[in-house]
Amino acid sequence: MRALIAGNWKMHGLAASRGEISALVAKMKAAAPTDCDVLICPPATLVAAFAAEFSGGPIQFGGQDCHGEPSGAHTGDISAEMFADASAAFVIVGHSERRANHNESDAEVRGKAEAVLRAGLTPIICVGESEAERKAGKALDIVGGQLEQSLPETSEDFVIAYEPVWAIGTGLTPTLADIAEMHAFIRAKTREDVRILYGGSVKPGNAEDILAIDNVNGALVGGASLKADDFYKIVMAAGGKQ
Ligand code: PGA
Repeated sequence: MRALIAGNWKMHGLAASRGEISALVAKMKAAAPTDCDVLICPPATLVAAFAAEFSGGPIQFGGQDCHGEPSGAHTGDISAEMFADASAAFVIVGHSERRANHNESDAEVRGKAEAVLRAGLTPIICVGESEAERKAGKALDIVGGQLEQSLPETSEDFVIAYEPVWAIGTGLTPTLADIAEMHAFIRAKTREDVRILYGGSVKPGNAEDILAIDNVNGALVGGASLKADDFYKIVMAAGGKQ
């Protein structure tokens, strides 16, 4: 299975941030793993311009969220079809910041994942437990419930990202054993050909250890995806990962 290293820029980045993409492209053209897909999900305003400027590869672009409907009276929302029109390849759905800040339910996340597939793109569906849920020993139950209710019922290609909420942007990560346990649990609930990414404080210093874990097929990277140098190191850590 090809690894996927995905960068989630969140609400960071302006047109001038093309410099980071261009630096990353230059580094990857000099040396990059051949068995790894690399994706950047910048703010929606930048997807079309980046996809057009860097269309020769080796980086793909994606959205961070979409509406479930193809079009309609939904001021401020963006549909999966619009991301397809902007030459995106993937759309992240159900990120914990969307679930928390916009009250997105599992059912809504499933609707968005199905919308991404309908538009011909690949959804990256995020799941993960809170700190209180982990401390209460409920992490597997919570993630199991999210998977049951937010994965699309399809044989099409989708990606799952396990992102413990308490590890996002905090510098904290679960132990390697805890990541291994959760990814094996997720694997048992999905198909063999579905890529399962780990996300939450992935950095150049921990990427190699995390990516070496069984059933970790890549990473979803927030803060460390904003700088070409850091993100490139994480991409290189995925080299040789099957
Ligand atoms: P982080 O964010 O790498 O900054 O922890 C990960 C994410 O939210 O996808």
